Amino acid sequence: MIDAPFIVEVRNVKKSFKDVHAVKGVSLSIKPGEFVALLGPNGAGKTTLVEMVEGIQNPDEGEIFISGLQWKNNQHELHQLIGLSLQETRFMDKLTAYETMRLFASFYKLDAHRVDEVFALIGLEDKKKAFVDNLSGGQRQRLALGVALLNKPQILLLDEPTTGLDPNARREIWNILLGLKKSQNTSLILTSHYMEEAEYLCDRIIIMDQGTILAQGTLAEILALGGGHRSLDELFISLTGRHLYE
Ligand SMILES: Nc1ncnc2c1ncn2[C@@H]1O[C@H](COP(=O)(O)OP(=O)(O)OP(=O)(O)O)[C@@H](O)[C@H]1O
Ligand SMILES: [Mg+2]
Repeated sequence: MIDAPFIVEVRNVKKSFKDVHAVKGVSLSIKPGEFVALLGPNGAGKTTLVEMVEGIQNPDEGEIFISGLQWKNNQHELHQLIGLSLQETRFMDKLTAYETMRLFASFYKLDAHRVDEVFALIGLEDKKKAFVDNLSGGQRQRLALGVALLNKPQILLLDEPTTGLDPNARREIWNILLGLKKSQNTSLILTSHYMEEAEYLCDRIIIMDQGTILAQGTLAEILALGGGHRSLDELFISLTGRHLYE
């Protein structure tokens, strides 16, 4: 691994789907151990941006470096560095939670011991034998987080990891993530629609709209922009003339 000052560097990245300009020239840098939240309305380009960092989508223009490496040359190394969960994770319903985790562990050549460790970490030990079909939405999201954590990634990319969770389940996921930051200096990019999640968990908030970054900083810093605002919604209105969430 190359010793780079930034764990993730995105340089002027663009991506279009036919005539939809989903990401219109975004640059950002993430330091080791930094937690960053991407907030923005539906269609802002959050998933498209994160999927380009994950190597799932190719940028039309621009470059992405992860620990100094690029997907086109270093797929194998990057798979070892990254843990990810998609906006909607679909598991195979004929497998149990445990079998699902063993399957993903086999991709990384990890043994049953690591699978047990992860089940303990995500607090899902009592559901090992349950079919994934029969897990609640929150339990399934924990399983998805567990899959993302299997290979002890240095950088986690989580697309709406707590959407639809009850407040307690959400807080449990926050605590798992903060524990990893403390113990492993893990970096995180997460997308979210919850301001309190971004505020509680993240060192920096990036607000996206229509494929561009509108504002970034700590919550206090971005609320102070343009003379001060009481909420992100108020700030968003002053920047775009629209509500953050209509
Ligand atoms: N595979 C695709 N084909 C065509 N258009 C796409 C595709 N993926 C995304 N888009 C479009 O790109 C834009 C950005 O979508 P994206 O999924 O990145 O938004 P998002 O910020 O993640 O939104 P949400 O909060 O709803 O998850 C949207 O207009 C979307 O319709
Ligand atoms: Mg999305």
